[in-house]
Amino acid sequence: MATIERRPHANTPRAFARVRRRERCETIPRNLCAARFACGVGVRCLGEPSARARQWRSQALKTAHDITRRAPAVERVERVARSMSAQPVDGADAAATPATGGEQIVTPWDVEGADGQGVDYDKLIKEFGCSKITAEMVERIERVTGMKAHPFLRRGMFFAHREMDLILDAYEKGEKFYLYTGRGPSSESLHLGHLIPFHFTAWLQKAFKVPLVIQLTDDEKFLWKDMALEECERLGRENAKDIIACGFDPKRTFIFSDVNYMCTPIYKNMMKIAKCVTLNQVRGIFGFTGESNIGQVGFPPTQAAPSFPDCFPHMFGENKKSLRCLIPCAIDQDPYFRMTRDVAPRIGGYKPALIESRFFPALKGESGKMSASDATSAIYVTDTAKEIKNKVNKYAFSGGQLTVEDHRRIGGNLDVDISWKWLNFFLDDDEELAKIGEEYSSGRMLSGEIKAKLIETLVPIVEHHQAIRNSVDDAQIDAFMSTQPRVFASLFGDMGDIAGALDEATLANTKPGIAIGAPAADDDGVKKSQQTQAQTGENGEPMSKSQQKKLLKEAQIAEKKAKQAEEKAKKKAEAEAAN
Ligand code: TRP
Repeated sequence: MATIERRPHANTPRAFARVRRRERCETIPRNLCAARFACGVGVRCLGEPSARARQWRSQALKTAHDITRRAPAVERVERVARSMSAQPVDGADAAATPATGGEQIVTPWDVEGADGQGVDYDKLIKEFGCSKITAEMVERIERVTGMKAHPFLRRGMFFAHREMDLILDAYEKGEKFYLYTGRGPSSESLHLGHLIPFHFTAWLQKAFKVPLVIQLTDDEKFLWKDMALEECERLGRENAKDIIACGFDPKRTFIFSDVNYMCTPIYKNMMKIAKCVTLNQVRGIFGFTGESNIGQVGFPPTQAAPSFPDCFPHMFGENKKSLRCLIPCAIDQDPYFRMTRDVAPRIGGYKPALIESRFFPALKGESGKMSASDATSAIYVTDTAKEIKNKVNKYAFSGGQLTVEDHRRIGGNLDVDISWKWLNFFLDDDEELAKIGEEYSSGRMLSGEIKAKLIETLVPIVEHHQAIRNSVDDAQIDAFMSTQPRVFASLFGDMGDIAGALDEATLANTKPGIAIGAPAADDDGVKKSQQTQAQTGENGEPMSKSQQKKLLKEAQIAEKKAKQAEEKAKKKAEAEAAN
């Protein structure tokens, strides 16, 4: 039977804050908790409130109403889509358009800085309750992985986290984890900003030698956009090619479309999550209103579920705590995972850890009004060298001075110069970058010259991406999307221990469709004993030795095929790059 959590009496803001602290509630941003409380979020009031408490609640309710009104999902999303021009890091929907006034707003569908300014990230960290990534943490990541930190990490593009320290502690102790990220496939071609989280995730995968799942939320885009479901599905597959081109390891990566993958294990997780979250809570977290369609209101558990490894039995087995999860994403996705982290202990899982990025600045500048669906405000991964050159020269917002004399005297303004900002993302060489910064800000380098540097940096990156992307064929996408059981041990480390993982005992304990050698399930009504669940086929019949051997063979063949496809793609890309 379900237990209703009886939470303590909290009728005043102070009492509420106390409870919130004690219960480590993360769902509700600190500054909003009083108002959200009145909305019925978080704390269940068990007593009859006093007159004072009632008065306070009615005041808070008004505030809550204002907050939700400020971010009613549907209308806002449409309005932002119309006025959008910035390049969000992931999802095509967030944009650094200026707010019409008042505070900044950051939701998965809507990003607005306060009063025409860019987003205040320090404030966001405070509001959301996440932590800053410190220089010590970056050093620690380098130490633990034995790799120089990715520029996005060194230079603070990934700037916030939740419990990344815990992941590092566990990793140092030899505990395993997996990565989870995703994309809402809403457009045919991606722009450079879309690639940021994927490049970073590919680096994390390489550095930590861990598996990864990538969710394509075709369902989300269908619910939020005026698009046919089948079209969203198609775009998902198209986008998968760009994602694959970012360099993921096919043996350790599973890409899935929500519409296609939806299966018992993920659905069960969704149901368990959904039952823990009230309508008032999602209104508070996401800004849903009475006009939101019920698909939208019910969507958050779909993005939350992949944070639990038992959604992917063919990769990780059936144990909800077989692995910890680390989610690299843009900070606008934080609300989803705040919710997930609150729910996790209640459904018997680990809270997913997060590593979060800033938004990628738009070509035409980080602040100021910018026009709608404007191909000139972004560089697409399909742009030619000539288009890149033209766009940068014409549109990249410059922090240079109006006349050459002024520029030589005053120097370029690095705080607003887009070429400089983009070079920080894409120019690997720290020394060269520092030199450019020095030259440009002192006025020795002119605006046209820093733009030339940017073009010189971007063109090879985009051309490289195109070459690989064009070589990705259906077989390769299918390999990434395959639900063929993987050998659990092969997903981690240097894969030296696969042979050991495939001894007789492991084989005897393998179930069809379940990763070979994955930790046994021990909760959730799944039988505890490995013995009982082992050797059982789909129809409940015991699996014969030959069936098990066949399964292993299939897994090996799939692995081999993936390897061949990868090599083929590599050769093709090399050949094309040579041309
Ligand atoms: N909602 C995200 C978007 O619109 C896609 C997504 C799904 C995602 N799961 C994720 C992003 C996990 C980051 C991490 O783009």
